Amino acid sequence: MSSGQSLHMNRGEGEASYARNSTTQNAGQNRMKHLIQEAITNLWKNTNTHKNIVIADLGCSAGPNALTLVKTAVDAIFHHCSDHKEIASEISVLLNDLPDNDFNDVAKRLYAFQQSTQDCGPAVTAIVPGSFYKKLFTSNSVNLVLSSHSLNWLSQVPEDLKKSRIPVYDKDEGLRQARRPFVVQAFSQQFRKDFAIFLNTRAKELVPNGQWCFPW
Ligand SMILES: C[S@@+](CC[C@H](N)C(=O)[O-])C[C@H]1O[C@@H](n2cnc3c(N)ncnc32)[C@H](O)[C@@H]1O
Repeated sequence: MSSGQSLHMNRGEGEASYARNSTTQNAGQNRMKHLIQEAITNLWKNTNTHKNIVIADLGCSAGPNALTLVKTAVDAIFHHCSDHKEIASEISVLLNDLPDNDFNDVAKRLYAFQQSTQDCGPAVTAIVPGSFYKKLFTSNSVNLVLSSHSLNWLSQVPEDLKKSRIPVYDKDEGLRQARRPFVVQAFSQQFRKDFAIFLNTRAKELVPNGQWCFPW
C-alpha cells in the first residue's frame, strides 16, 4: 500500500485528535522560526521583484500546526515590508497534504487566517491535496516551500521488505534483531529514492532563487 492511499492524522478536535496531540511538533515548528525569517530575507536579497509571493506548506496536517509555518512566513514578510517601507506583496498560501487529511478543519483555519491578513492586503489561500512525491504546483511558480515532521513519511513500504514478506514490526525479538540490518538498509534506500524525487520535483516548481525550509 502506498502512503497516499489512506493514512492520515486523527481528525477533528477530540481528545485523540492531532489538533490536541501535537504540541511536541509545534515546539519543533517554533524552532524553525529563525530559518523561515532568514529564508524571507534571502528572497528579498536575491531578486528585485516581490510583487507576488507564493508560499507552500507540504504535509500541513490539521489543527493549529497546519498554519504555524505559513503564519511565521507571512508575519516575516509584513515585518520586512514595514521595516523597509515597501508596499506589502501579494501573498498566496498553499496548504498540501494527502487527500484523506482533515481538510474541513484546514479550510476553516485558512479562512480565519485570511481574514486576519485583511489590513495588510489579504493573502490568497488554497488547499492542494496530493502526494508531495508527485508534481503539486505549476513549474516555476513557488517562492518558498515549508515542511515540518512530514518528510519522514515514505511513499511506500520498501519493495525489498514486501518481496521478502518481512512485516513492518516483528513481534519475535530474535527475528527482529536478526533482520535489523536488512530492514534498516531497505528503509534508508527507500528514503534516498523518495527524497531525490521530492527534491527534483520541488526544484522544478520553485522560482529561480526560491527558498525552502524543511530541517527534518
Ligand atoms: C506528523 S504530521 C505533521 C503535520 C505538521 N506539519 C506538523 O509539523 O505538526 C505529518 C503529515 O504529513 C502528511 N504526509 C505524509 N506523507 C505525505 C505525502 N506523501 N504528501 C503529502 N502529505 C504527506 C501526513 O498526512 C500528515 O498529515
